[in-house]
Amino acid sequence: MAHVPEQLSGVSELMDLLHIDLETEDKPGREDALYSRNVQRKQRHWERQVAAKKSKRKEEKQRRKLSRRQESGKDLSSPQVTKRVLKAITKERLAEAQSTGLRLCVDLSMTDSMSDKEISRLAGQLRRLYGSNRKAARPFHLLLTDLRRDSRVYRECIRMNDGFLNYMMDITEESCLDLFPAEALVYLSPDAEEVLETVDADKVYVLGGLVDESIQKKLSFSRARELSVHMARLPIDEHMVKKNNAKNFHSKILAVNQVFDILVTFCDTGSWTEALQTWFPQGKGYVVTTDDSTSLPATQTLD
Ligand SMILES: C[S@@+](CC[C@H](N)C(=O)[O-])C[C@H]1O[C@@H](n2cnc3c(N)ncnc32)[C@H](O)[C@@H]1O
Repeated sequence: MAHVPEQLSGVSELMDLLHIDLETEDKPGREDALYSRNVQRKQRHWERQVAAKKSKRKEEKQRRKLSRRQESGKDLSSPQVTKRVLKAITKERLAEAQSTGLRLCVDLSMTDSMSDKEISRLAGQLRRLYGSNRKAARPFHLLLTDLRRDSRVYRECIRMNDGFLNYMMDITEESCLDLFPAEALVYLSPDAEEVLETVDADKVYVLGGLVDESIQKKLSFSRARELSVHMARLPIDEHMVKKNNAKNFHSKILAVNQVFDILVTFCDTGSWTEALQTWFPQGKGYVVTTDDSTSLPATQTLD
């Protein structure tokens, strides 16, 4: 060990002592500060984690709540749910129409003589007719009558029309006459003499399920005769006039879905003018008269 003078040794001891004292006073202070900064940092980290978990739980809870509300149909603001609600209302209306709605049959007993192309067009028209009924505020009770399961039109309807077998309408092999008394039936035919003035809840209206590209005149007329039932034509002559056109083409024969659209609108508004104005196809060469009292009958040509 090196020799240290007594005095120095005392100073050194003192210094050591001081040093020790200083250190023993200083070190714990710094450690405390460090310790407390660490603790604070850990505390803040822990608090952030707790807050994040809390907000994640809250979000999760809200997501579950929203999905429960959507499933039960309460959240009307969601477009998906609105669609679901609309679908439910349509279904309800159609179900009600099946028991209390105005009745309309499409008589499919005359399809054998139709070409495959005409059969396809008829299947398309039946789809549109059903689509119009779905949209109607007061749908009809629809019946497809004389529709044999082994017929081309039945097969074509299944092939072309999604969900055809689930359509909310009656599909039957029976004829309209098997289902309703003859005096209730009104067969709609463009060749009828009598005009359809109103649509009556006591009556059952029948449309001929026909597409005749090469017009077979008076088919529905003959069928109504055969069934010995009333018949009526749309009041075209009473509310429309012929319109000049390049081809000089004028026809009052409409497709089944077009006749149906006219009937639905008439039932909604009570106005033939409005119904014909809305649905009578422009290409048929007729226009609705603006003033019924001064108009020419539809059988005359305007020059
Ligand atoms: C394309 S038409 C068939 C035309 C066919 N030549 C016939 O004799 O009925 C389809 C069906 O719609 C209805 N229809 C078409 N135009 C009509 C009108 N102007 N008045 C009444 N019913 C009409 C009839 O029930 C008709 O059978």
